[in-house]
Amino acid sequence: MAKSSQEKLILGIESSCDETAAAVVASGRRILSSVVASQIAIHRKYGGVVPELASREHLRRIVPVVREALEQAGVGLPDVDAIAVTRGPGLIGSLLVGVTYGKVLALALGKPLIGVNHLEGHIHAVLLEARSEKREPQLPAVCLVVSGGHTLLYHVSSPQGNDSAGFTYARLGGTRDDAAGEAYDKVAKMLALGYPGGPILDQLAPHGDPRGVRFGPIKTRGNPFDFSFSGIKTAVLYHLRRNPQLQPEIEARQEALNRGDRSAEVLRGLSSQATLDLVASFQRAVVDDLVSRTIAAASENSVRTVLVSGGVAANSELRRTFATAAGPRGLDVFFPSRHLSTDNAAMIAAAGYPRFVSGLIEPATLNAEASFPLA
Ligand code: KG4
Ligand code: ZN
Repeated sequence: MAKSSQEKLILGIESSCDETAAAVVASGRRILSSVVASQIAIHRKYGGVVPELASREHLRRIVPVVREALEQAGVGLPDVDAIAVTRGPGLIGSLLVGVTYGKVLALALGKPLIGVNHLEGHIHAVLLEARSEKREPQLPAVCLVVSGGHTLLYHVSSPQGNDSAGFTYARLGGTRDDAAGEAYDKVAKMLALGYPGGPILDQLAPHGDPRGVRFGPIKTRGNPFDFSFSGIKTAVLYHLRRNPQLQPEIEARQEALNRGDRSAEVLRGLSSQATLDLVASFQRAVVDDLVSRTIAAASENSVRTVLVSGGVAANSELRRTFATAAGPRGLDVFFPSRHLSTDNAAMIAAAGYPRFVSGLIEPATLNAEASFPLA
């Protein structure tokens, strides 16, 4: 068996949105396996996640995905010390599949069941990655969780050290409308660049001029750590209405997508410089907003560590801009690897470990919760 005698093996299960995932992580720091079955191909033709299709697919995939995670880790169910499952927030039908399966496993095996908040999972994805590289982030930190469903800023502290049970979270701000990833997805849909939008816009943006289209700084009244991305999405829509000459290429790209041609090379070849400039300008505006508010939150809270997690944390421009902004301010910025940025179960197993250590075990009546704020 792959674990040392002191290590505790947590089997993580994640099914909050459109990835069915299972992972085995030893004591919140060593990933023995992390299996993710993505449903992107199923939801692509609708341009977004269809909840009914998502739950049906989770049902189909959950058993083989858990089995594969155990196999890759080289362990059996009896070797697992606890089962950690995403309890919320997310799509209720999707969450129910993971929670029900986790409960049944825990009950049948007589193992403790741990309920994990998906957002806490994203925060622990960064800590897990840093630990596995032996680069322990100094807490307290400010954490930006930025994905297709969330754009949130948290203050994260652990009074007794990074391995301790006592992580505490305070919400500093969040999006008032669209999440950043949702804005990427909607803009990509308007431009007929496929789904999900983030990766393709990320690949096309370096070919455009980020000063090509002027998007003013994004304004939010009140809390300076709140976000708003629906305005910039609408600004892109108006830009397209004012520039009808961009329509024929949108139609040509839609035809390519319909044929199954969605590579960045093909889509770039079907995009004018004006479109590439629009993409670069959109990305620049979103990235600048995410970075400046996060750095302001770190400064306001006198924190020297910044954690960035969630699907959009995979964005190259976001990583570069954070790195450039952090140096002169003496900030240490941590990102998970791309695999750990998007939804996965290793982060759920890692977030479950401190809860396990502190005895936060759930009863068999544990429920999935679509709306489940972390703080
Ligand atoms: O964390 P995640 O897998 O699922 C949610 O919890 O939402 O994030 C998916 C989101 C999608 O909106 C996708 O477009 C975005 O993350 N995304 C990116 C990149 N890769 C994924 N956004 C910008 N740049 C990327 N490279
Ligand atoms: Zn997520």
